[in-house]
Amino acid sequence: MINNVEKAAKNFFIETWGCQMNEEDSEKLSGMLKRLGYKRTEDRSSADLIIFNTCCVRENAELKVYGNLGMLKKLKIKNPNLIIAICGCMMQQKDMAKNIIKRFPFVDIIFGTHNSYKFPEYLNRVQQENTSVIEIQDKESGIVEGLPIDRESTVKAFVTIMYGCNNFCTYCIVPYVRGRERSRKPEDIEKEIKELISKGYKEITLLGQNVNSYGKTLEPKISFSDLLRRINSIDGVERIRFMTSHPKDLTEDVVDAVAECSKVCEQIHLPVQSGSTSLLKKMNRNYSKEGYLNLVKKIREKVPDAAITTDIIVGFPGETEEDFEETLNLAREVQYDSAFTFIYSKRKGTPAYDFEDQIPEDIKHERFNRLVEVINESSARKNKAYEGRTEEILVEGTSKNDNTKLTGRTRSGKLVNFEGNKKDIGKLVKVHITKATSFSLLGEEIQ
Ligand code: 5AD
Ligand code: SF4
Repeated sequence: MINNVEKAAKNFFIETWGCQMNEEDSEKLSGMLKRLGYKRTEDRSSADLIIFNTCCVRENAELKVYGNLGMLKKLKIKNPNLIIAICGCMMQQKDMAKNIIKRFPFVDIIFGTHNSYKFPEYLNRVQQENTSVIEIQDKESGIVEGLPIDRESTVKAFVTIMYGCNNFCTYCIVPYVRGRERSRKPEDIEKEIKELISKGYKEITLLGQNVNSYGKTLEPKISFSDLLRRINSIDGVERIRFMTSHPKDLTEDVVDAVAECSKVCEQIHLPVQSGSTSLLKKMNRNYSKEGYLNLVKKIREKVPDAAITTDIIVGFPGETEEDFEETLNLAREVQYDSAFTFIYSKRKGTPAYDFEDQIPEDIKHERFNRLVEVINESSARKNKAYEGRTEEILVEGTSKNDNTKLTGRTRSGKLVNFEGNKKDIGKLVKVHITKATSFSLLGEEIQ
């Protein structure tokens, strides 16, 4: 099938919204296109093919897609041969593909999260038969191994270890658009990591919506801590990270593995969502405020240097001022290194969409600002503590804002911009931290 597609040096433009999972899917789409002879461009007006990989976790993400699609009409009029493809989580929602075609009839290809590996086939059909292709698969398929991946970085790589989610938090659309949990075989994961190491990659981030339930669907069963230990023993891997952990599933053996495995970095992303136990119950999170705080205590005991980061939602239906203050107090107590803060967004198809006690927008925004202030305080304090320290940095490249400086991260995940030697890109170096700002650190390489 792939061979039939024209092998001309055509350009493609891809825009990705949403989480790391979507980023990874885009790297696969890009990998398949490069295999077909396409070249990537950052300029959509000169592209022969435009792909939008969409997100639907909050309404804002959807609005951005509509805005961007509207702008493509002009390009299509100018270049009728332009092919426009839309994919990703948003397309998995009921009637979405139908509505998109009605509003934007110039779109050529629509597909979902479960069949993106078939993209070359769809592209071929559009080119050969001069037709549009709309294919959304309701159910997840088996895991497709061996797709080419065109990675953004040459130093650090994301490796998906499991797909889907079984948790059905009442606010979240992800389980409906990404399907049920399924894990990749450990051998396939190890093979991919070994290949990455042979290409010079140093840091591996293991990805999944809930990495702590890795392996439950496999035969023989394997736990996430077993997987961490197996990857820790691969020669050439310098750093291992993982996300996302669900507090209800982050067991002590995982904390032990983080403490014991020398390559596993001291960084844990542990979304709390709310500090109110009654709200957590309404969110179907399956842990209490006390349970969460105990887990944080355990992490701090066993991995004292761990950076702990989180996701928090404000304005979930029924959130009282007292509930919200519990969230603020929890954030003050944990002292997060950083947090992704979100205003609750109603998602059709989720249980919380129908909850009656929705919070007015002005109160949501007011709470959001108060939360951001508390998070910024602890981030600044945590960053300040790095001043004067010497840290191991994996050099990722030159700094975005100042290309005379290098950029990289500490083991704990802090971004550091520093004076150093460009020949060290891709290497681990020692950096003396001279100054902390709110969101990053500055330093000088120790030669
Ligand atoms: N509204 C706001 N935030 C949400 N998240 C997921 N669903 C919603 C929603 N409906 C947030 C959660 C999750 C992160 C990826 O996105 O905090 O951890
Ligand atoms: Fe969504 Fe909850 Fe699954 Fe995370 S664990 S993807 S918040 S349903």
